[in-house]
Amino acid sequence: MLEAIHLTKKFGELVAVNDLSFKVDENQIFGIAGPNGAGKSTVYNLITGFYPFDGKLLFNGKNIAGKKPHQIAKMGIARTFQVPRTFPSLTVEEALSVGSRFGDGNGFDSEYVDFLLHFLNFEEERSCNTGALDLLGKKKLMMGAALATRPKLLMLDEPMAGSNAHEIQELMDFIRRINEEMGVTIIIIEHFMKVLTELTETLLIIESGAKIASGDPEDVTNDKQVVECYLGDAYASDN
Ligand SMILES: Nc1ncnc2c1ncn2[C@@H]1O[C@H](COP(=O)(O)OP(=O)(O)O)[C@@H](O)[C@H]1O
Ligand SMILES: [Mg+2]
Repeated sequence: MLEAIHLTKKFGELVAVNDLSFKVDENQIFGIAGPNGAGKSTVYNLITGFYPFDGKLLFNGKNIAGKKPHQIAKMGIARTFQVPRTFPSLTVEEALSVGSRFGDGNGFDSEYVDFLLHFLNFEEERSCNTGALDLLGKKKLMMGAALATRPKLLMLDEPMAGSNAHEIQELMDFIRRINEEMGVTIIIIEHFMKVLTELTETLLIIESGAKIASGDPEDVTNDKQVVECYLGDAYASDN
């Protein structure tokens, strides 16, 4: 569904993404991990058309290099951000409606908004201001607003950050339902190894913008280079 071929992004002297190639299959949950500053969020910024880059990005076989963010959204790619971004003065229902308006070009669809309110278990909160939601609620709403654009591919940027064990479990179940029940392909950037090994089918580890390992999450997390350069850190920070 998505193929990055020799993807490279320089900010001045800094090579944020370095000759990175990977493939995401339709309907899979694909994980990306690596230390802070490895270039993970930049990969999302390239895929969503925020910066020009070198190399190729194919989405369903079409090169999306040079396309504008709104064109990419229309093609069916949506994302969330590391820090939840919601419009605090909108109600939950309005926030989902905005996404539905700016989505795949089919316009506002109140039935789909109702479906999302139900899917998110937000029926009671539909008229609440989004600013009144707790962190878990804000995260679910941000994913809901992304889903409102009817994406084929949803890219999540560290969705578990700042969450406790119970919230992590709830978000994991939710992400699995988005994948299985809505048929949305998912890329997830995450630090929690438990989340990556339980949720993803393929895991890509990057460091300094370059691939250091990829494949089955169990194999990748046992890779000597990965353990040395990354997992020591991640395990330490989980405690
Ligand atoms: N717009 C930008 N201008 C300059 N440098 C940037 C920009 N965006 C990211 N970077 C740099 O690129 C590197 C990768 O950043 P990022 O993709 O955010 O890492 P990660 O998400 O893996 O923590 C970092 O060194 C960061 O400072
Ligand atoms: Mg990041």
